[in-house]
Amino acid sequence: MPCTDVIIIGGGLSALVAAKKLSKHKNVIIFTKSTKTSSNSYMAQGGVAAAIGKGDDWSSHFEDTMAAGCHYNQSDQVRTLVQQGPAHIKQLMKEGLEFDRETGGRIALGKEGAHSQRRILHAGGDATGKAMTTFLLDQIQDNVAIIEKEMAVDLITERGRCRGIKSINKNGSVHYHFAEHTIIATGGVGSLYKYTSNHASVIGDGIAMAYRAGVELVDLEFIQFHPTMLYRDGEVLGLISEAVRGEGAFLVDERGRKIMDGVHPMGDLAPRDVVAREIFNQIQQGIDVFLDISPVSNFSKRFPTIHRLCQKHHLDRSRLLPVIPGSHFLMGGIKTGRGGETSLPGLYAVGEAAWTGVHGANRIASNSLLEGIVFGDLTAENILSKAPSLFVNHPAAFTNNQAFKGTLPQKDAIRSMMTEYAGVVRDQRGLTKLKKWLEESFDPHGPITIDKRETAEKVNMLTVAWLITTSALARRESRGGHYRTDFPVSSTEWENKRIIRRLQKQAA
Ligand code: SIN
Repeated sequence: MPCTDVIIIGGGLSALVAAKKLSKHKNVIIFTKSTKTSSNSYMAQGGVAAAIGKGDDWSSHFEDTMAAGCHYNQSDQVRTLVQQGPAHIKQLMKEGLEFDRETGGRIALGKEGAHSQRRILHAGGDATGKAMTTFLLDQIQDNVAIIEKEMAVDLITERGRCRGIKSINKNGSVHYHFAEHTIIATGGVGSLYKYTSNHASVIGDGIAMAYRAGVELVDLEFIQFHPTMLYRDGEVLGLISEAVRGEGAFLVDERGRKIMDGVHPMGDLAPRDVVAREIFNQIQQGIDVFLDISPVSNFSKRFPTIHRLCQKHHLDRSRLLPVIPGSHFLMGGIKTGRGGETSLPGLYAVGEAAWTGVHGANRIASNSLLEGIVFGDLTAENILSKAPSLFVNHPAAFTNNQAFKGTLPQKDAIRSMMTEYAGVVRDQRGLTKLKKWLEESFDPHGPITIDKRETAEKVNMLTVAWLITTSALARRESRGGHYRTDFPVSSTEWENKRIIRRLQKQAA
């Protein structure tokens, strides 16, 4: 059976950065269950943070990242991120990537929550992710095969090593693809929730696959909710970037009261967990919340994507945009080291699917594209430093044939339950109810046969929902993106503890 050097699952920014470097020396295939441009990276609005401005430096970016992350971050990894980030950005610019500039030609730097400086580079106003991913897709088009609409459903493991993926292609047939190295770049878990900024395909597939293969996962209880999703009649219409508040917009209730006054010294630009919780609390009391964009000059020019979104929903003449928090980013993920390595030899993870430790308990704005670039590159470098390993393919050795319990619930039912019981705020009662409901549908400890894409997606959603729920139940405190009304403060007992999840394989 043919064996590729590197398989990458997912096509966001971190995948493209890794693919670009690897493809100079190795055969690389990217598999994406949707299309090249269906990623959260592509949809990213605000920008990419890097300390390149006059008067800014990496230590200030470091301090801001640690403070927003509640100092729960891995400080050595944060240092790597903020120190290496600017050189990567400058290199991309040298290769031709254009960021927005001020009239005088200087790079225009935006401001976002919890940053003490203007340090957010952006492109196309609020279409930074599109500009960056398109640029990289162009750069790799001749050297990297991208297989669209083929979903990786499981990792092939043999003799303690990852050997590639089992997948289901667009016609529904099952395939096995072998690789010396496999990288998971499937993004986070946003679409496990009813209200989200994420692409609908982002449901934690890579994390579920890694779990089934016995790989270590960490910090899954830390979910970031973006404060300002445009909202109407029970439906989220799209994201309104935090950069809008960076240009002066502020949050008000239906009577025009500024809701962030007195809540946090940084006001409307407080860390996201703080702002999202305040909006959530207002809405729980039956009070609608709006983003007042009156102070933003040239709104349609500075934020063309958001302006078009408002136009589409006939909200472009309004200065008060109705908002609600929506799930946005997973701080935890597949536990990785500096070079993307996981606890399973031959398997790596990058981007939001990976836990690098840089985000702590709450990611600061615009550090995710930066993480994708820096750690995507370090992962490629790590793989390039490895000597080839020889192995023989035995597909029969890794097929499981056991069934899940009963009928799988609908995806929307999972989303509603997660939103209600594992959302912006949680407690023991709700999490316990959710755990029981999930366990009635499937056995999180047992092997599962996956031969249909719909089954794979539902099983993955249930698996990751269960992992988030049990982690949130275990952490009896509040910190960053994990807030429990029954344990509302951070406890010293938990400040150095991490919840690691790993499937304990049952003896045959
Ligand atoms: C935003 O534009 O508000 C999102 C940016 C981010 O999550 O970093």
